[in-house]
Amino acid sequence: MNSIKIAVLGLGNVGKGVWKILRRHRNMIKEYIGVPIDVKKVLVRDVQKKRDIDVPPHMLTTNFDDILLDEDIRIIVELIGGLHPAYEYMRKAIEMGKHVVTANKAVIASYGRELIQLANERNVLLRFEGSVGGGIPIIAALTRSLAANEIEAVVGIINGTTNYILTQMTRYGMDFNTALKLAQEKGYAEADPSSDVEGEDAAFKLSILAFIAFGVQVPPQDIPREGITRISEKEIQYAAQLGYTIKLLAAARKHDGKLDLHVHPALVPNTHPLAAVNDEFNALFVKGDAVGELMMYGKGAGSLPTGSAVVSDIMDVASTMMSGSTTPYMYRNAREKLQINGEG
Ligand code: HSE
Repeated sequence: MNSIKIAVLGLGNVGKGVWKILRRHRNMIKEYIGVPIDVKKVLVRDVQKKRDIDVPPHMLTTNFDDILLDEDIRIIVELIGGLHPAYEYMRKAIEMGKHVVTANKAVIASYGRELIQLANERNVLLRFEGSVGGGIPIIAALTRSLAANEIEAVVGIINGTTNYILTQMTRYGMDFNTALKLAQEKGYAEADPSSDVEGEDAAFKLSILAFIAFGVQVPPQDIPREGITRISEKEIQYAAQLGYTIKLLAAARKHDGKLDLHVHPALVPNTHPLAAVNDEFNALFVKGDAVGELMMYGKGAGSLPTGSAVVSDIMDVASTMMSGSTTPYMYRNAREKLQINGEG
């Protein structure tokens, strides 16, 4: 094999970041894997659209079948976002024996277990590090580096847009709409930012974390959530006067055979490390029975940070391909029947 050919679905914010990293680190990637990784095709909605990125026009296609039926293409990188048609594209790719890398939290939260099982049956790889925490390697940590632990809790800030908005409101007294507009300009927000500000995006990510950390697949719509739209500048100021910072927290905690899952704004004491997590940064506390408590911190949104997670996944798949094996995805099966939020 002279090179590993891949296709990228979507040339939005994350797609551009992936393209730039693949270009910037072409030689390093080649040294790491043994052969270069080349993008052969890119799926876009409009081939004619003016773009601020140097993707050769002959690579662009609007037809997914051009990619699916191209036998040279071994890895499909799905970065369109949203449930449909992203889910169908990923399923078809796996059924065709192609490896899939994605940053799609909606699809992994809703169909993760099904797609992993399908991928394992077909001996192909499915990786989704970019779906939670942007550049923070939380999926790899929970599935590999912390595999020896019974996980007791995962709590954190996992939406960059809302953390950015709350930070601007706290720091500068900025109003909600101006801060949201800035977050959109910076490329942090979803296409429909209500998903961020209503806590849906965080619920998708918490559902994935619950699956990875506790082996339960909880539909994201079943996770109780409250966003940040009702938080006023006044409340933020009062909280500050009392020594607290308002943060949107996502929490999964296990106790007495129950798993509590919630996304909600919380008053975090300023002495707590989460109070100092600002702008688009995310942070995740994990408590394992052997390792104890640890925290991971980094940029949770944005083109290059999320691109970092996606390209690292592509490299992981490529190096596994080069080794001639496809290791099935290891995921936890709940060892006990956990009651979700006290129900069931
Ligand atoms: N809209 C998401 C966020 C992007 O703000 O965190 C990264 O998943």
